[in-house]
Amino acid sequence: MKWRHRLFLRTLLPFLPFQYMLRSLKRRLTPFNQDNAEGVLRYTFIMMKQLRADGFTGTGTTALELGTGWEPQIPLLLNLAGCDKVLSVDLHRLLDFTSCRRTVDFFKTKREHIIETLGVKASSFDRYIDGLSFSGLESFLESASITYLAPCDARKLPLPAESVDLVISNNVLEHIPPETITELFREFHRVLKTKGKMVHTIDNADHWSYSDRTISQGNFLRYEESAWQRLQKNPIDYQNRLRHFEYCRLILGCGFSLFHDLSVVDEALCAALKTIPVCSKYGDVPPEQLAISLSRIIAEKEP
Ligand SMILES: C[S@@+](CC[C@H](N)C(=O)[O-])C[C@H]1O[C@@H](n2cnc3c(N)ncnc32)[C@H](O)[C@@H]1O
Repeated sequence: MKWRHRLFLRTLLPFLPFQYMLRSLKRRLTPFNQDNAEGVLRYTFIMMKQLRADGFTGTGTTALELGTGWEPQIPLLLNLAGCDKVLSVDLHRLLDFTSCRRTVDFFKTKREHIIETLGVKASSFDRYIDGLSFSGLESFLESASITYLAPCDARKLPLPAESVDLVISNNVLEHIPPETITELFREFHRVLKTKGKMVHTIDNADHWSYSDRTISQGNFLRYEESAWQRLQKNPIDYQNRLRHFEYCRLILGCGFSLFHDLSVVDEALCAALKTIPVCSKYGDVPPEQLAISLSRIIAEKEP
């Protein structure tokens, strides 16, 4: 389906009562999205490998995930990586028992890969996975040592200042308005210890291009800002379309330094951007910068 038609139909969704309940039901009935799960695993591994190379062992640390979503992959990985305390925060309580069980089944199929990448002992992996309880969501979370803060707006965390060592997110920030991102970064600055790390993987591609193969990943950059904002009717589909350099600016403006930038330029997107008209906001930005399709940023809290 063309993205415009899809967008129009989805614009009607907020008028349905119980949009989130329906979404949850649909999610339960659809098969486990293996591709998505593989992607989250791959992205998280890249960031965790870098943290490991920087000397992060997990021991004695508290880690916080922003935007849990439907599956507890990152909190499980953080526990397997040896973090002492793992929290995961989301505006919506999307995790359910089925999604947790499916994620664990998926992890079992990736046992060797996870063990090798995280550098954990096979016996530790098995002990953790075998110790998980599957009698309900609450008991699962307790057995997995995951503190699930949901529903909770991460702009106001129920956590003391300087109590967290690591904040991590995957495919979350691109769905949040810039002003809210600033508030989030300020809150993360408050709860992080000095030299604590903030790790974000951000998908900068036009997400409509995943279902409509006729448009490029840079299609949304054609629209003037006001026109683009007018299309953002359903909060579930919201995309801020910020570019990599804008995230870096926000990070630097909130008291962090850029520790690692492992971002990826997409050559096909770069070529496409040389042929399509780009809105005035980004007109003067070189295509190579606009074509950073994946931001992978590790920032450090400055004193
Ligand atoms: C696209 S989902 C990402 C899910 C998951 N991280 C993944 O990679 O599959 C983004 C999540 O961020 C959550 N979120 C957005 N703004 C938030 C906020 N201010 N505080 C907490 N969670 C938020 C949303 O509710 C949503 O579940």
